[in-house]
Amino acid sequence: MILVTGGHGFLGSYVVEKLRERGYLVFAPHSNLYDLRKQADIDAMFHVVRPDKVIHLAAACGGIGANQEYSGKFFYDNIMMGAQMLEAARVSGVSKFVQIGTACSYPKHTPVPFKEEDLWNGFPESTNGAYGVAKRALLTMCQAYRAQYGVNAVYLILTNLYGPRDEFRPHRSHAVAALIKKCVDAKCNGDSEITVWGDGTATREFLYVEDAADAIVMAMEKYDGGEPVNIGGGQEVSILELTRTIAGIVGYSGNIRFDPSKPNGQPKRRLDVSKAKNLFGFESKTSLGEGLSKTVEWYLKEGSNAA
Ligand SMILES: NC(=O)c1ccc[n+]([C@@H]2O[C@H](COP(=O)([O-])OP(=O)(O)OC[C@H]3O[C@@H](n4cnc5c(N)ncnc54)[C@H](OP(=O)(O)O)[C@@H]3O)[C@@H](O)[C@H]2O)c1
Repeated sequence: MILVTGGHGFLGSYVVEKLRERGYLVFAPHSNLYDLRKQADIDAMFHVVRPDKVIHLAAACGGIGANQEYSGKFFYDNIMMGAQMLEAARVSGVSKFVQIGTACSYPKHTPVPFKEEDLWNGFPESTNGAYGVAKRALLTMCQAYRAQYGVNAVYLILTNLYGPRDEFRPHRSHAVAALIKKCVDAKCNGDSEITVWGDGTATREFLYVEDAADAIVMAMEKYDGGEPVNIGGGQEVSILELTRTIAGIVGYSGNIRFDPSKPNGQPKRRLDVSKAKNLFGFESKTSLGEGLSKTVEWYLKEGSNAA
């Protein structure tokens, strides 16, 4: 049995689907059944499920705004969930524990492309510092548990994700979903202008969510090392280019205005993805254009009701 925490979230829903397609038995509880900030809930869950492997995806996360507003919660929830989950996994003797990390853990001014060795060379961008440090601390815990107890704990560093089923509500959304919603709303309302956070110069790398789920399943099956591994799409795009591309797909032809009084977040972000290819054969398959078109199509059909 594979226990997938956060299995009903954006990324988790694809991980669960892909595992089931491959014939695995999966248990994916909601937070209202087991609140993973509480050790008693985690212990009860392990007692009932007795998992062989754990993929720990559950997290408190969001875009720049949410990271600023909920920095305390993001630190506490992520460190408590991760630390207690790994301890329970150790006690129950699982054969594998996959901890999901984030590119937000890299130092603010990491040279592009970010290499795994650069992870500790400085503090993250301040807007996501609490989230990034909490996640980064869990890498140290995974490595310490491997060294002292022999726990097969694997740590993956994911870049920014996007795709169908993403979170489009403005207070929770990340860049791609926020920009799609802005362009669709402006087109529907006949607005002549949209306003985008920052000055448009920040760069990001985006990975289509199904590709990210494939990477996680591949790592679960094939990677048993203690070194962290970047998972990304390998393509860097500025927020200006991204906004223009999304506006083109949506068919919004109004003006794009940037608001430099709002934060850019990390100035540049792209991961070196060579380790994932060498260690377990992962390469992203979906181009940004293809992935964005699929995401916009989904949002127009289903997502706009939830946003
Ligand atoms: N999205 C990205 O761009 C991105 C980028 C890099 C890394 N990541 C990482 O990928 C993972 C998944 O992210 P996501 O975007 O899919 O997030 P998401 O859609 O917000 O899903 C997070 C999940 O965590 C669960 N959760 C939150 N608090 C919980 C608690 N106290 N107890 C139990 N479960 C709890 C939620 O369960 P319920 O729905 O049942 O409440 C939810 O399903 C996270 O570890 C995140 O840090 C995401």
